[in-house]
Amino acid sequence: MDTQQIQSLWANTQTSLAGFQKDQSETCRKEALAQITKLQRALEQPKDAILKLSYQPMVFMALKVAHDMKVFPVLANATAPVSVKQLAAAKPANPLLVERIMRLLVSFDIVEEPEPSAYLPTAIAKEMVNRPAIGTMESLFCEFLPILQKTPEYLAATNYQNPEDPMRAPLQYTHNVEIDGFSWLCEHPAALTRFNDFMEGQRANRVHWGDWFPVQERILAGADSNPERALVVDIGGGRGHDLMLFQKRFPDAPGKLVLEDLPSVIDEAASDLNACGIQGVKYDFFKEANPVKGARVYYFKFVFHDWSDEKARVLLGHVVDAMEAGYSKLVIEEYILPDRNAEFLHGTTDMAVMIFCSGLERTRQQWKSLLESVGLQPTFWTRENDGLGVIESVLPVANGTNGTNGTNGAAH
Ligand SMILES: C[S@@+](CC[C@H](N)C(=O)[O-])C[C@H]1O[C@@H](n2cnc3c(N)ncnc32)[C@H](O)[C@@H]1O
Repeated sequence: MDTQQIQSLWANTQTSLAGFQKDQSETCRKEALAQITKLQRALEQPKDAILKLSYQPMVFMALKVAHDMKVFPVLANATAPVSVKQLAAAKPANPLLVERIMRLLVSFDIVEEPEPSAYLPTAIAKEMVNRPAIGTMESLFCEFLPILQKTPEYLAATNYQNPEDPMRAPLQYTHNVEIDGFSWLCEHPAALTRFNDFMEGQRANRVHWGDWFPVQERILAGADSNPERALVVDIGGGRGHDLMLFQKRFPDAPGKLVLEDLPSVIDEAASDLNACGIQGVKYDFFKEANPVKGARVYYFKFVFHDWSDEKARVLLGHVVDAMEAGYSKLVIEEYILPDRNAEFLHGTTDMAVMIFCSGLERTRQQWKSLLESVGLQPTFWTRENDGLGVIESVLPVANGTNGTNGTNGAAH
């Protein structure tokens, strides 16, 4: 164990924590967390670290079982310790089984055990009663884990080629099917519901683009005031959660908000969309020209990462055909990977899209090449310490200007 390294990590941690305590800066909080993670790694014995890492799926299983046994709704509002008997009564389940599951969750700081076999919730346990959190856990457990287990076998069978065909990803190998992952979800309604819940939770604590991107200046200022014209079309927008947040943030913005997705997804979202006045359109972005022409914004979040460049170009071709040069903008909200030291979430999401649909996360250069290959001119907007960026693209207009005056690489 390198004690000098530990001293230096501890000093860095204290500096970041002091910065966070001073002005609650997100940059300092994330830096402190990164330093603490490194410090923990440096303090761990390597053999113990490997053992812990390999046992990690047990914690995930315990979380799922605790959810299934309805532990979290009982715990979430508790102000006094809840006994194992009370928790077991919720399902009901065997108290000894509940105790064994809770033991693991306590060791992982998901719940507290202030007295033997009696529990209090942490902030994580309190979150586990909300639909997006439950969906995230359930979709990853029920749909992704079985595929994950088969992925090494699949990669060996394909001689370690990078998966690029969405019809031949680890998902198809696992389930022996010949449809893409999203069509497969549409054929399995319970899995589709879990996935759409997961999508609602995927943004997690990262802020909505409307909260930091200069929407007023870059989108609304030049938007047509005609109420019949589309302002934002969210393509592959799931249940429309990003549009709903946009609507809340900009209630007086002119024009229609339109959600486009596969028929089963639009059907699932229909009543919520109607209630908000968002137009739902059943649309397959590979098969058809986009029915909404000349919108101010064609918005995609976490869609292009599902597809290889080849497939993405088909999708982009339909968007480009629908865009009006000098007016329409393509807005992509996705991870823009750094050239080195990508974060845990970048790497894990990259694996998730790889196994599900042969997708991939992209660096700035990869995004630039992809978008320029279909004639678009991208401007990158990134926030400090947050891999989730906005790529705003326009079509070139006849006089050679692109209609944007943002700075490539602007940090906001
Ligand atoms: C990873 S999810 C992203 C959902 C949403 N944009 C978000 O960030 O929460 C991808 C979305 O693309 C949709 N999708 C997949 N294939 C599609 C297709 N061929 N046509 C239209 N939508 C599709 C899925 O149904 C899903 O809602």
